[in-house]
Amino acid sequence: MPQHRQHTGRIQQLAQRLETVREEERKAIARLLHDGIAQELSVAIFRLSRMAAQSGHELGIAQLCLDLREALRRCMAELRKGAGGLRPPSFGLLTLPEALKEHTRSFEEISGLQINVREQSQLPTLDEDTRLLFFRAAQEALTNVARHARGTEVSISLDASEDHITMEVCDNGIGIPEGAVDKPGSFGLLGLRERFASLGGDLTLDGMAPSGTKLRVRLPLQRSALEGRQ
Ligand SMILES: Nc1ncnc2c1ncn2[C@@H]1O[C@H](COP(=O)(O)OP(=O)(O)OP(=O)(O)O)[C@@H](O)[C@H]1O
Ligand SMILES: [Mg+2]
Repeated sequence: MPQHRQHTGRIQQLAQRLETVREEERKAIARLLHDGIAQELSVAIFRLSRMAAQSGHELGIAQLCLDLREALRRCMAELRKGAGGLRPPSFGLLTLPEALKEHTRSFEEISGLQINVREQSQLPTLDEDTRLLFFRAAQEALTNVARHARGTEVSISLDASEDHITMEVCDNGIGIPEGAVDKPGSFGLLGLRERFASLGGDLTLDGMAPSGTKLRVRLPLQRSALEGRQ
């Protein structure tokens, strides 16, 4: 095998490994935030409500408890926003459309975009790695729309054929320049293209009429991605 082919293969393996490590770390941090810190915050919020109720109007203690409770609630909301991007709670139990809907709901709030998620056909049950791959692709595409597209609406559609799962993310923004994937210093689309290619899939970008961008990712539906039909 020519040496440059070997190098490309090694780089793809490394990129894949890097993604696996990042996913493991995200999972660990999300678990800490959701199961550890969020739990402690809920208990503290509950206790402050009880203290406020029991303390009457003594020395403004009730008001202090309520103020503290509001501060903790704000922390909880911030934590949910941040941790949702890492990995939605109970990702392991959600179907891909459910996970996408949960993410887009909070992303709409953050970005001001109007986002629609549609299933064109019923998807088979996908294993966690496959769901996570499409989920990360949707996250990157949405972040790109918010950062670069200057659009207002996004539609995400999921489709399954006999042999492929396809996701399209379309926006109504300014459109994507030719060669954007190879832009120096930009790694989002390049990384996604590598991840899909290494699993036999692909990523394409097209202009939309009258304006906007369509990102499409496709993955062959191998047996490993199936856990039985829904
Ligand atoms: N939906 C879009 N509409 C318009 N331009 C886009 C869109 N998505 C990407 N681009 C263009 O393509 C370029 C490359 O995108 P890519 O996601 O690879 O990198 P990035 O977003 O610049 O940086 P990062 O490495 O943080 O993802 C962007 O810098 C932007 O110019
Ligand atoms: Mg990007």
